[in-house]
Amino acid sequence: MPSAAQSEMSGDQMNDSNSEWDGTGESVVASDLAAMSQRLHHVFSKMSGKDLLITGGAGFLGYYLVQAPLAWNDANPELDPIRVTVHDNFLRGVPGWLSALDSPALRTVTRDVLAPMPEDEPRFDWIIHAASIASPIFYRQFPIETMDANVDGLRLILDHMKERADGPNPVEGFLFFSTSEIYGDPQPEHIPTPETYRGNVSATGPRACYDESKRYGETLCVNFAQQYNLPIGIARPFNNYGPGLKIDDGRVLPDFVRNVLNGEDIVMLSDGLATRTFCYVADSVTGYYLILGNAVDNPGEPFNIGTQTPEINMRELADRVVALGAELFGYSGQVVQKTSDDPEYLTDNPNRRSPIIEKAQRLLGYDSTINIDDGLRRAMRWYEAQPER
Ligand SMILES: NC(=O)c1ccc[n+]([C@@H]2O[C@H](COP(=O)([O-])OP(=O)(O)OC[C@H]3O[C@@H](n4cnc5c(N)ncnc54)[C@H](O)[C@@H]3O)[C@@H](O)[C@H]2O)c1
Repeated sequence: MPSAAQSEMSGDQMNDSNSEWDGTGESVVASDLAAMSQRLHHVFSKMSGKDLLITGGAGFLGYYLVQAPLAWNDANPELDPIRVTVHDNFLRGVPGWLSALDSPALRTVTRDVLAPMPEDEPRFDWIIHAASIASPIFYRQFPIETMDANVDGLRLILDHMKERADGPNPVEGFLFFSTSEIYGDPQPEHIPTPETYRGNVSATGPRACYDESKRYGETLCVNFAQQYNLPIGIARPFNNYGPGLKIDDGRVLPDFVRNVLNGEDIVMLSDGLATRTFCYVADSVTGYYLILGNAVDNPGEPFNIGTQTPEINMRELADRVVALGAELFGYSGQVVQKTSDDPEYLTDNPNRRSPIIEKAQRLLGYDSTINIDDGLRRAMRWYEAQPER
């Protein structure tokens, strides 16, 4: 017998094989983690009984990067658990979700990635370097710290891998988080964008601290992979959204949803014409683990991780959030256009961004499975259930 909430599921939800959630915010995360645990079984099996380090694990992507292997541990009690360690400087505090996780397989360590690896830490078998300031609002405030995490913090890990490469316990896989922003503002003929596109990026503009340090980070990764034969994978995420992304992060979707949950009009700080393809975070994190798990076969290779369609503009995104707000919460606001107080808010903001993901599909078996309306519905239900909303 379906519950009342289940019987209210939309066609989108019912058609989506990953959508075994009952319409409540609490069930969003549980169903996402169950699906990821299944899709990544072959990757997590390789990590069984091993130590996994996630730098920057307290951030948005950390939310599922940390919880997915723990969910796999819970789903496979007969197998040795993956031991997960988070290194983060916790500059924005320890998030409530992380302190609430109650797993013997999880450790958190307060450490800036610019500090050398403590001697008493385990010899990590698998490493993910996600530590960076990722939100434009914050990286423009802290440009030096942003560059340092992407370049010097990365270099420490690469040197550490190199030192261990010929020893008894080499690192089995490493994932560097780059960004789709390394393409800058592509000319129209390069959209959708393949990994081979070289980019159209300013070296000195307000976003350069982020874009250029990610570009150099990729160059470091490629050359360490080639020179020392190291299993290094590179992810280029395209506009992820969903559970874990703080409502005050300054990225566009949480800004819109905050307006809806506060019963205010949605404030759009642009002409609304810039387009993006938005990828639900349970899909993208699956893609990141596929890169990590297959890094030994694709050393130094960058992968676009995102979704190819639909490419929608900010006005369309706002309209969808209004419609879903009405469906889910009886919202009756509208979209209003304003100018940001920040004069650099839109400087070097790409007009269009859309990936070709064929390489990840072909070499990793990656795909995005959650359509935009289902993903937005899940995200909005999740935000509704957050105490800090
Ligand atoms: N979320 C996206 O859509 C997206 C898109 C492109 C690239 N990325 C990249 O993915 C990675 C994770 O992104 P996110 O959205 O989770 O970012 P986030 O800002 O939400 O989280 C980053 C985490 O890194 C930590 N951190 C920052 N500098 C650090 C340092 N020097 N030492 C230790 N910890 C530090 C922060 O405290 C935070 O917990 C980043 O490298 C980001 O650039 C994300």
